Amino acid sequence: VAPLKVGIAGLGTVGAEVVRLIETQARVLAGRSGRGIRVVAVTARSKAKKRGVDLRGIEWVRDPMALATHPGIDCFVELMGGAGDPALSAVEAALNAGKSVVTANKALLAKHGLKLAKAAEKHGGALNFEAAVGAAIPVIKTLREGLAGTGVTRVYGILNGTCNYILTRMEQEGLSFAECLKDAQRLGYAEANPSFDVDGHDTAQKLAILASLAFGTKVAQSAVYVEGISSIAPEDLRAADDLGYRLKLLGVAVRTAKGIEQRVHPTMVPKSSSIAQVMGVTNAVTIDGEGIPPITLVGPGAGGAATASAVVADIADVARGIRANPFGRPISHLRDTKKAPMERH
Ligand code: HSE
Repeated sequence: VAPLKVGIAGLGTVGAEVVRLIETQARVLAGRSGRGIRVVAVTARSKAKKRGVDLRGIEWVRDPMALATHPGIDCFVELMGGAGDPALSAVEAALNAGKSVVTANKALLAKHGLKLAKAAEKHGGALNFEAAVGAAIPVIKTLREGLAGTGVTRVYGILNGTCNYILTRMEQEGLSFAECLKDAQRLGYAEANPSFDVDGHDTAQKLAILASLAFGTKVAQSAVYVEGISSIAPEDLRAADDLGYRLKLLGVAVRTAKGIEQRVHPTMVPKSSSIAQVMGVTNAVTIDGEGIPPITLVGPGAGGAATASAVVADIADVARGIRANPFGRPISHLRDTKKAPMERH
């Protein structure tokens, strides 16, 4: 069988690590996929930047659009980020050309996921985005392919590593918000614009994706109520502590009689609860289903290595010929996102 030919747009921490993993894990991946995986072409803003990976023998393509429609690639890997162009046009073009797409771009999916899923469905390519939520945690696969027969009633958790890292260090070390944020940026956890993290939008994007998969509704970030952590001070954490609570930024999507309620806000959780034990950059997602006890997935929620591992797993699925419906159901089966009024806070 011919190897899967991959093109990667974006060679930041995640992109460079994906190139490295495909090279160093070649035998494992070939064993798992039944065929080889080769990075044949890449594009990024700067060709000269030092990335610590060997790009010799890989074609350098001038821009994302040219890579997306490159006749020599089967799978377009989008790691540029951002809800608009160039990511949007490039992903659309790749799907319209019948290629498969792997992306870590939650902003793009939360805003344009439905349109992109339609293009994937029409032209037969896969659209995989495990890395978009919870980095290395296989939460998309769990909701999309693992719990297909179960009615989900609620999905919630800690979906932003940067915020949980900040809250943990503020609480444990009494550091200021700004200091903790700086460290989260230095460690490669934060978004290019960290206000997406601390204002709750990153969590909202991830929640919108999870809610669509969990409830079979059309993905829509606009349906999420959002409040972030930027006004939380060490005193707030101490006050919560005195009362036996911790503050966590939670994303919660719950089925109610009036629709799907989706909300993101700092939440007091009892210190004895399992979600209160989730510290640092770790993410945790709990899925409540009909007739089964809750399922909780916990693991590294941000960072180059954790995100790259999910991207590579998605590429391996494309190599194996696995093609799931992007949002778990054919587009025609997805219901409109009826926004439920907020009942509890
Ligand atoms: N900035 C994100 C976070 C990266 O901190 O969780 C992973 O999506």
